[in-house]
Amino acid sequence: MTDLLDRLRDVVGDDHVLTAADDVAAYVVDWTGVHAGAALAVVRPGSTDEVAAVVAACHEAGAPVVPQGGNTGLVAGGVPDASGSQVVLSLGRMRTVRDVDPVAGTITVDAGVVLADVQAAAERAGRLFPMSLGSEGSCTIGGNLATNAGGTAVLRYGMTRELVLGLEVVLPDGRVWDGLRGLRKDNTGYDLTQLFVGSEGTLGVITGAVLRLFPATTRHATAWVAVPGVAAAVALLGLAQERAGAHLSTFEIANRQALELVLAHLPGASDPLAEPSDWYVLVELAGTATDDGLDDSLEAILGDAVEADLAIDAAVASSPARRSALWALREGISEAQKVEGATLKQDVTLPIARLADWVDEIGPRVAAALPGVRPVTYGHVGDGNLHYNLSAPASSPASTEGRDGDADLRAAAAHLSTAIYDSVAAANGSISAEHGLGRAKAAAAASYKSEVEVDLMRAVKRALDPDGLMNPGALLPPP
Ligand code: FAD
Ligand code: MLT
Ligand code: ZN
Repeated sequence: MTDLLDRLRDVVGDDHVLTAADDVAAYVVDWTGVHAGAALAVVRPGSTDEVAAVVAACHEAGAPVVPQGGNTGLVAGGVPDASGSQVVLSLGRMRTVRDVDPVAGTITVDAGVVLADVQAAAERAGRLFPMSLGSEGSCTIGGNLATNAGGTAVLRYGMTRELVLGLEVVLPDGRVWDGLRGLRKDNTGYDLTQLFVGSEGTLGVITGAVLRLFPATTRHATAWVAVPGVAAAVALLGLAQERAGAHLSTFEIANRQALELVLAHLPGASDPLAEPSDWYVLVELAGTATDDGLDDSLEAILGDAVEADLAIDAAVASSPARRSALWALREGISEAQKVEGATLKQDVTLPIARLADWVDEIGPRVAAALPGVRPVTYGHVGDGNLHYNLSAPASSPASTEGRDGDADLRAAAAHLSTAIYDSVAAANGSISAEHGLGRAKAAAAASYKSEVEVDLMRAVKRALDPDGLMNPGALLPPP
C-alpha cells in the first residue's frame, strides 16, 4: 500500500494525504460519536480531475474508497469500517459555486460546497435554494445528494432528488460522467442522475451538481403551537393545507421531552408558552414579496384550530428575531439530545393516517424493553416522518449496579431497534425516511425488503462497481 500512498501524494500533494492519527481523527468518527473506524489514509482532492485520478489509483490497487462530505451523516455511511484498509476521500476542498442562472433557475456547484453556502449564493441572486437541515452549516451538497436528504422544507419543495437537474460523477474505475446539462426536459434514456441520488457513495463519487432554484420567499408567518396530541397535529396539518395551500412550507412536530432538552441545553432558549403541553408543532407559511396577508391567514387557521380542539395555545412570531427563536427550538433538538447523552437514532416514515396510533403503540413496547427510556419524538410530521430518538433513562435502575443509563441504552439498542423496525414494517412504513442506511441500517433494511428488491439493488451495484470498491458495507450488507 506504500505505492498507493505515493501515487495519491503525486496526485493531490503531500499535504492532502493524511495518515497521522491526529490528522485523520475527525474523519473516522461520525457526528454521533458512536461509530468510529480506521482509515488507510484520508485524501483531500481539490478538483474533479484529482478525484478521478485518486479513484483510478485506488481501483488499480484494489483499495476501497469511502466518499465523505461534511461528515454529518447519522447512519455511519461516511466513516470507514474498523479494518484500516479503506481510503476516505474527502470532498471538503471542492467548494466552488460554478454558476448561478436566476432565469433558468439553476445553480451549478462543486459537491463539497456546504449547504448554507448554496443557500447564500442563491439568495445573493435573488432566489431560494429551499433545502434546510439542522446540519446545514456543515453538511455538503454532495452528501445531501448521496443521502437524498430531507429536512424541514420537503413538505413544499420535496426531497433532494426533486431539487437536482444533473450531476457530475467519478465512476468506480476513475472515468468521469458529465451529466451537468441541467435541462428540465431530457427523456433520452435511463435517468442516471436519479440513480446516483441516494446511492450513499456506493456507485461513484459525486463531484458536481446542477440544482433547482425557486422564487425567494421573503415573507413568513410562523407559530409554535401547543397541540393535544399527534392525531390533533395531523388534523391541524389537513386544515393548514386546505387554508394555506402552497404557502404552507413547514409543519414540524416535537414532544415535550424534546423541548425540555432544548430548554436545558441550548443557551438562551425559553418556552414561548405559559403552560407546558405534551406536543407542539412549528407551522410556517412563506410567500414572495407580493404575497400579502400571511399573518392573517395563520391567525385564522390557529383560531379555527383552537375552536376545533386541534390546538391549545400558540406563540406567533412578531419579528424576524422571534421567528429565529421559534425555529431554534426545533433545530436545536438533535444537538440538545447529543449533549444529554447517548441517543438511539430512529428515523421512520409511516402513512400519515397511522402516525398517531403508531406513537401510542410503540411507547409501551420501548418502555417494556428498557424501563424509563425517554422517547424524544420530533420531526417532519407533514411528511409522515418522525425521529423517534431514544435517550437513556434519566436515572437508570441499573445504575445501582455500577452501570449508567447510557450503557443500558447501548445494551438494549438492538432489541429496541428491532421492536421499532417490526412495528414500522407492520404499518407499511420505512425504517429510514431521510437519513439513508449507511453501515448502521444496511442489514436491517435488506431484511425488510423482498428478495426481488434486494436482487435488483445488488444488480445495479454490480453493474456500476463490479469490484465492490465504492463504500463497501454501506447501503447494502456484504453479499
Ligand atoms: P457525509 O456525512 O459526509 O456522508 C453521508 C453519506 O454520503 C455517506 O454514505 C458518504 O459516503 C456519502 N457521500 C458524501 N459525499 C459524497 C459525494 N460527494 N459523492 C458520493 N457520496 C458521498 N438529514 C436529513 O435528511 N434531514 C434532516 O433534517 C437532518 N438534520 C440533521 C441535523 C443534524 C444536527 C445532523 C448532525 C444531521 C442531520 N441530518 C439530516 C443528517 C445529515 O446532515 C445528512 O444526511 C446530510 O445529507 C449529510 O451530508 P454530509 O455532507 O455531512 O455527508
Ligand atoms: C432532524 O430533523 O433534526 C434530524 O434529521 C434528526 C436527527 O438528528 O435525528
Ligand atoms: Zn430530520
